[in-house]
Amino acid sequence: MSTTDTPQTRVATPRRFLMCPPQHFDVTYSINPWMDPAKPVDSSLAHAQWVELKNLYESLGHTVEVIDPLPGLPDMVFAANGATVIDGRVLAARFRHVERTAEGPAYLSWFVEHGYGDVHWPEHVNEGEGDYRVVGRTVLAGAGFRTDPRSHAEAQEFFGLPVIGLTLVNPEFYHLDTALAVLSDTEIMYYPEAFTPGSQSVLRELFPDAILATAEDAEVFGLNALSDGRHVLLPDAAVHLKQRLRERGFEPIGVDLTELLKAGGSVKCCTLELR
Ligand code: ARG
Repeated sequence: MSTTDTPQTRVATPRRFLMCPPQHFDVTYSINPWMDPAKPVDSSLAHAQWVELKNLYESLGHTVEVIDPLPGLPDMVFAANGATVIDGRVLAARFRHVERTAEGPAYLSWFVEHGYGDVHWPEHVNEGEGDYRVVGRTVLAGAGFRTDPRSHAEAQEFFGLPVIGLTLVNPEFYHLDTALAVLSDTEIMYYPEAFTPGSQSVLRELFPDAILATAEDAEVFGLNALSDGRHVLLPDAAVHLKQRLRERGFEPIGVDLTELLKAGGSVKCCTLELR
């Protein structure tokens, strides 16, 4: 769509999400540049911000399932990393860092207990929806920092959907969902500089009309956004992106998750979509 067109009417579709309360959330180690264990975390504020996000989803008509947080896993609040679920099939997560390793089986158990029959324990490291983003019937797959590129072929075989590998280059944007957000079955927004030149070219080829984020948008984690087709929940500080989204007929909703950002996560990281 060119900017001279009138924005189209966007339709939200009800979603199902899995979230994990930040009961044990803290920054006790550092596995990405955002994490500084010397900086204190306000647990009650983190909890309040998380509850606000959950309430917002529910007020928009979405269903939120909750997994019990486990002590000793301060990053478990980032449910997006727990698995990738498409057509009810679950590709479990296998974490890069030992600090998060136990989250893989913890999330996997939740799926088994909740009746998901088609569950795959992966051979290769993959950090769930953090690096697997679904656009319509195509899967965009990140690599470079966390997910092993060999996981992409494993995911393609398991889901039976085309998986497009993209390589991340900036350690601040270490998961695909920190550099790219899915807006609809055909639209995305992303921060080009987070990708290798080859991956930027792939994205231009596939999504010539994508919204491009500025460095300022990316720095406030504006791409760690969740769209239901109409409402786009994103960090409130992403001023430029909110404007671009409005021009395209989306309804941006700013959310404050500043405490969780101290661990390098925001809206999308806290949300695993159960497709
Ligand atoms: N501290 C966590 C880590 O570095 C944050 C994970 C954020 N999740 C995401 N989907 N980007 O692993």
